[in-house]
Amino acid sequence: MKFFIDTANLAQIKEANDLGVLDGVTTNPSLMAKEGIKGEANIIKHYETICELVDGPISAEVLSTDFASIIEEGKKLAAIHPNIIVKVPMIKDGIKALKWFTDNGIKTNCTLVFSAGQAILAAKAGATYVSPFIGRIDDTSWDGVELIAQIAQIYSLQGFKTEILAASIRNALHIVRCAEAGADVCTCPLDSILGLLKHPLTDIGLAKFLEDAKKM
Ligand code: G3P
Repeated sequence: MKFFIDTANLAQIKEANDLGVLDGVTTNPSLMAKEGIKGEANIIKHYETICELVDGPISAEVLSTDFASIIEEGKKLAAIHPNIIVKVPMIKDGIKALKWFTDNGIKTNCTLVFSAGQAILAAKAGATYVSPFIGRIDDTSWDGVELIAQIAQIYSLQGFKTEILAASIRNALHIVRCAEAGADVCTCPLDSILGLLKHPLTDIGLAKFLEDAKKM
């Protein structure tokens, strides 16, 4: 399973990349706004900087919702760097746009996916990645990870090539469960990635080793 970081924060992207286990980055309009990135020129510059930091797929989301504007915006984003993945929302014009991008050699990430039916449509349109939002499903008292397992089963049975990119990850257990359920990629906040490190027995064990090392 690949690890992407789900943020537009450059310091966090650097920290995750320095760990050596980072495969890519995803952003969305909320994450860009959180970093105070405003205006087309600054948005493009920010994506350029992320592409310089991380050598892997970088998802950049379109802000348009009609077919013609999604295509125009997606072409501009794709022109920033070969690693840019155009992120398109799961709406009717989004599906049409995904098919257009597929036919024109532009890689895509279909976002805001909450059902297996939506994931089938995204795969039919040739999306490179499909992004089911695990945490937001959990927020409605359903088990988001079950959706990952269902999509993984369907894609495997049907031979779809779209990669399952588990999004809206909120903790380290989400990452472990998404790996078990067959996600191809997990896009995570830095805290969730670092959460994988934590175990009190590791800390206790290391403290004891370091104490005993003084007697060596
Ligand atoms: O990748 C989508 C993600 O950024 C949404 O996360 O925590 O806002 O549901 P969240």
